[in-house]
This record gives sequence, C-alpha cells and structure tokens, in this order.
Amino acid sequence: MTIPSDLIVFEIDVPERLQARMERLASSETKVNFSRTLVPADLAGDWITPLCATNFTKEKPTLWIIEGVLPYLNDEATCRLLETLRGYSAHGSQMWCDHIHSDILVTLEQDSVLDRRRELLVPWCSTWSDPVNQLARSGWAGRAWTLNNLITPLPENPPASWMPTISSSDATLDTQYRWFISAKVQSKSQKDLLMGLCEIPKRVQIKYIYDCLGSQIFEQVTKAPGYYLTKTECAIIDRHADDIAACVAARTLIELGSGSSEKAKKLLDIFHVGGDLTHYIAVDISADALEKSKCALRAQYKNLVIKSMAGDFTDPIPFDIEARPALVTMLGSTIENQLPQERHHLFCNIHSQMQRGDALLLGLDLVKDEEAMISAYGDGKGSLAAFFKNGLTVLNYELGANFDLDNFNHITTWNRQCRRVENLLQAKVPHVVTLSNPNSAVHFKEKEELQVGISYKFCKEEVRTELLNAGFSLSCWWEEPKGRYALVRSHCIIHEER
Ligand SMILES: C[S@@+](CC[C@H](N)C(=O)[O-])C[C@H]1O[C@@H](n2cnc3c(N)ncnc32)[C@H](O)[C@@H]1O
Repeated sequence: MTIPSDLIVFEIDVPERLQARMERLASSETKVNFSRTLVPADLAGDWITPLCATNFTKEKPTLWIIEGVLPYLNDEATCRLLETLRGYSAHGSQMWCDHIHSDILVTLEQDSVLDRRRELLVPWCSTWSDPVNQLARSGWAGRAWTLNNLITPLPENPPASWMPTISSSDATLDTQYRWFISAKVQSKSQKDLLMGLCEIPKRVQIKYIYDCLGSQIFEQVTKAPGYYLTKTECAIIDRHADDIAACVAARTLIELGSGSSEKAKKLLDIFHVGGDLTHYIAVDISADALEKSKCALRAQYKNLVIKSMAGDFTDPIPFDIEARPALVTMLGSTIENQLPQERHHLFCNIHSQMQRGDALLLGLDLVKDEEAMISAYGDGKGSLAAFFKNGLTVLNYELGANFDLDNFNHITTWNRQCRRVENLLQAKVPHVVTLSNPNSAVHFKEKEELQVGISYKFCKEEVRTELLNAGFSLSCWWEEPKGRYALVRSHCIIHEER
C-alpha cells in the first residue's frame, strides 16, 4: 500500500498503552515512514483538547480508526465520542470502527460470554443492534458488515433492508458477532433529514424544501389566489410607505429569507430610491434563488451595493455591516416556521450584531378565524401541495430514498394548543420507503403523517414580549384593515454597558 507523503498518524490511547506500543516498535524490525504523533488521553474523557494541542488540524480530511474500543464505552460516552469526531471532521473524512453485535447476548450462551469478560476485568458496556442508525444519530452515514458477510460477498445490488443474518450454530465472535463499520461524514442537511425521519412524528424541516425547485414553486404559491400573506404584506408596505420611510432610517438593509427579493424591491424603492440606503444584503438557504435575484436587482439598482449570503439564518451568521443604521427584515412571515425557542435564538443573534439606531422589521401572519388560516394553504392539490411534496423529492435526492409522491395526501390542520398551522403529508397506504444513504428503511402506517411545515400565528402582545425578551422594543405595528397580517418595526435596546 502506498502511503501518502503528507500522511500524519495520531495515536490516541491511555499513556501505558502508548508506552507499551513504543517499546514494542523500538524492539522490532518494523520502520515507519510517516509522521507519528502520540496523544496520551482516555477516549471516555476529554481527548480532543490534547489532540488539538498537537499539529492535528480539523480543516483537512481525517480517517478515524477506532478498533476494539466502542464496546468498552457506555452509550453516553459513545455518543459523545462520535459527535466529537463529527465536529472535527472536514468534508471527505471517514471512520472505520468495530463493535459487538447485540445478538451475541441472545444467540450465544450469554452468561459464558459475559462471565469471561468479567473474569478478564474488561466488561462490555454496550453492544449495537443497528449500527447504521446509531451512527446516523451522530452525523455519520455508515455501512456495517459482519465477517461472515465479507467472506460471503454482498449481493451485487443489496436491497436497502439487507442485514446480516445470525443463524449458524458454530458462530464465533469474530465471524458473526463483530460489526465492521465504515462511515462517511454526513452533510448537515442529510443529518437533519435523517434525524427527522427517526422522530415521532416524522418530519422534514421546511428550510430544506426550498431547494432550486422548491423556491420556484414557492414563487407560484405567492401568486395563488388564496395565499393572502404575500398580497396583504405588499398592500401594507404600499399603504404605509411614507410612514415606514419616516420611522425607519436605513443605510443597510439585511433581508433574512430573501427568496426572489420581490418584496424587498418595495423597501429598496422606499429606502434607496427615496432615501440613504447604500447596501442590501440578501440571506437565503437557497443559493439558486439568491443568484437569480442578485442579477435582477443589480440591473435595476445600479448604485446599490448588493451582497448575497447563501446560508442558514438559524446559524449565527455575521452580517458584516459596513454602513449604519441597519435594518434587518424578515418578510413573508418567514419567522412563523421557527419554534418559539428558535425564534428567541434568532432574535438574540440579530440583536448581538446591532447598534443604537438599528432596527428589525418583521412581516407576521396573525391569529384569526381558523378556516381563514387553513384556507391559505390550499385544498391539498395546488402549488402548495406541490411545494410540500417537494420535501419528498429532497429526501429522495439527499438520502437516496424512493418516496412515491402519489402515496401521500397533503393536509393542513390548525393546532389550537400550539397556535400553529401544520402542513402534513399523510400516507395513503401502509408502505416501506428504502434509503440507500445510509442503507436503511422507513416504515409508514396508513394515515401516518409526515410533518413538512409548521407556521405559528401571532398576537400583538405576545410579539411585544418575545421581542422584549431578545432586547427589542416594539415601536410600530402596521396592520391590514381586515386584521389578518401585520408589519412590525422594533428597535434595538442597547444597554449602556455594550
Ligand atoms: C416564506 S419564504 C419568503 C420569501 C420572501 N422573503 C417573501 O417574502 O416572499 C421563506 C424564504 O426563507 C428562506 N429560508 C427558510 N428557512 C431558512 C433558513 N433557515 N435560512 C435561510 N433561509 C431560509 C427560504 O429559502 C425562502 O426563500
């Protein structure tokens, strides 16, 4: 095997083991021609600090080899270890590890195996029945084999449900009860999507539905007759344009969840064409939507500095504000898709980047008659159904799944207790969906629901309190005459110590 010239091997083990290995190597003929760094540490404790104190860098891909270790860690320590590895793994990193198959406890004479381990004073703390799932929980896409399966080659195109069978009476630990596992780092979206399918109820976070196709379908949604959110928000901006211009000074406009930036144009006309605005920063998870809108805006607003940032606004993104005052805006009731604690984090993050004079402008869909709220989301057939079903297409693409869109109905319900509209895809028939990345299966019962979107609806006093808790003071509330929707300006409270 050729060893890359820039390979660095880090050996992490308890000090006595490292010492023993050093002595053995020193007395053997074997010469290593790669750089070795010894890191004395216990994998059940903090080993990452000593590793990072060496020349290890998490910016380069790493191959982690964890052999003969996991059975001796309890579930919590294993989870912590895998998550730490995930956090220190650049794109392209891999992991090889082994573990004990849980079936050993039922198939072999349990007591003799475990007694022997106890005698040796090296008891197992855990076994794994489903390594693919265990790894997925910590952000790894894995495959697992027993030695038997390696000797008897895998079928050419193994079905996703393929699992090793444990049947032979002369099975040994190494041939049948030891998992050999190889795993790759999952992207954040793959991890989130996979975790969502493991939750009860199963769910897809709406932000992942806004891929290239999803963003295009959403543009059609905004034009659908029943979808009043876009139309009422535009009407509010038109009606109160002078008032907005008088109350809000802005030299930088930052739009979170900018989409096509169509509505931002109304604000750009108020603040740039009619005011002092010089910078517009569009932030969206959909790089395609950003690219399209940037071209259109550059052609229309020649003197405006336009920046676009493709990213998740729930991550702490630094806005890099060059001209103040800044106005951060979230239009289209985009904030309604966040859980209350997520809203709080997001508002706090925005606040942490603000200075005196900066402000926040939110478009909010209000609590109203239940039927009116639900009817905005269509009759389960139109562009909104297509938008939400795009969540299945995203799962097919990201996880190599085989969701059949026709197996689901789109339904919308009002969750009175949580005060949110829930968009769900309900399975028409019981069925199994297979995933190839990682290799696994997801079972749906008849009428089982996959949650594809939650949309909180708001009341003025709650909004005031929520904003205050994050350091904002509600200062203007522009409401549509029918009371369905509001545009809300709040300014940033700056404490003297900042
Ligand atoms: C309801 S649409 C609103 C679009 C536009 N602001 C409007 O008013 O028409 C939500 C937008 O937010 C984006 N988005 C959703 N979740 C996001 C997230 N976590 N980070 C960044 N963008 C996100 C979507 O891609 C989409 O463009």
